[in-house]
Amino acid sequence: MGKHNNLIDFSSNDYLGFSTSKEIYNASNLLLKDTNLEQNGATGSRLLTGNHPLYKRAEDFISTFHKAEATLIFNSGYDANIGFFSSVPQRGDLIFYDELSHASIRDGIQMSNAKTYKFKHNDIDDLKRLIEKTTITSPLQGEMPIGRGGHSLEQPIYIVTESVFSMDGDVPDLVALVNFCTENGFYLIVDEAHALGVFGDNGSGLVQQLHLENKVFARIVTFGKAMGCHGAAVLGSQELIDYLLNFARSFIYTTALPPHSVATILAAYQNLESSKNQELLQATIQFFQKKCTELNIQDRFIKSESAIHTLIIPGNKEVKNASTTLKKEGFDVKPILSPTVPKNKERLRICLHSFNTEREIEKLVQVLATFV
Ligand SMILES: Cc1ncc(COP(=O)(O)O)c(C=O)c1O
Repeated sequence: MGKHNNLIDFSSNDYLGFSTSKEIYNASNLLLKDTNLEQNGATGSRLLTGNHPLYKRAEDFISTFHKAEATLIFNSGYDANIGFFSSVPQRGDLIFYDELSHASIRDGIQMSNAKTYKFKHNDIDDLKRLIEKTTITSPLQGEMPIGRGGHSLEQPIYIVTESVFSMDGDVPDLVALVNFCTENGFYLIVDEAHALGVFGDNGSGLVQQLHLENKVFARIVTFGKAMGCHGAAVLGSQELIDYLLNFARSFIYTTALPPHSVATILAAYQNLESSKNQELLQATIQFFQKKCTELNIQDRFIKSESAIHTLIIPGNKEVKNASTTLKKEGFDVKPILSPTVPKNKERLRICLHSFNTEREIEKLVQVLATFV
């Protein structure tokens, strides 16, 4: 565990080391045996032949774990986001999304018939300005009651963010966003892909850590990162889940996940409840921050409490060279180049894991300090 091509893993999303957990592997095999589902494929869409009893069991477990009314499993986070955003917002609805939102969110939004606007990263004032400007100039203005940001209830407004941003590792002010949305009747959607397993009791995510689960319209959790397996789910009201079941095309028109994938998801969730790996990960994050502070390089990082830490090294060539140097020292750290990130914001993206040792981190930070 912890080695990719014989390099020490500071790049994968396997934050808790679950992808290689024998415990999860064995528990999922046992689940398949117990439920008589030792088969290789699902054989069809869930609406046809692909449904199997493990789905309901996993979805019920996830709903309880996340204190959500209902859950719908999708084949991936990409599918969950395009399924949600292409089907829920309707023509004439407005979507405001953080400019650093993941490609799957942006692709889903593009597939919708709603009007879409992006606000500056984690900038709630910019979001407010944008909503005001948009709704004032909107042709719908005449029919809108004052006090709802100029909008009638018939024109829903969706606000979209991530609880941990995948390329920056930072978090939005979720409490402020929730308050703003609650006051105005806006629908908040939070992608928790990189927060699941990292924040909250038993790794339940940042929304639950802040006790906001009843105040967001929908959450997207993905299982290919800290959960170490594959798939994703939308968490929300029963009404929302029933709607997605009938209208989300990336849910309907695709072969369902095979039973062993669903068994692995369930086993990974059960393991989250008993595992100490989240505590180990938190200790790793704190140790990494401490070492960076000792070598006085903390200001070169984008501020982050998550498992993702990014050191800005402007220039594609420069950041690639830094990654090569790290490789020679035995570390797998990926360079993130422009245009994936804006020019001059090229960076090393360091992913921390429960299994990274203090010795590895100490050495890594020493090498990082030579780039600053
Ligand atoms: C924020 C975010 N949402 C969704 C996804 C997509 O998840 P998946 O890999 O399960 O398709 C990712 C993966 O990179 C992500 O970072």
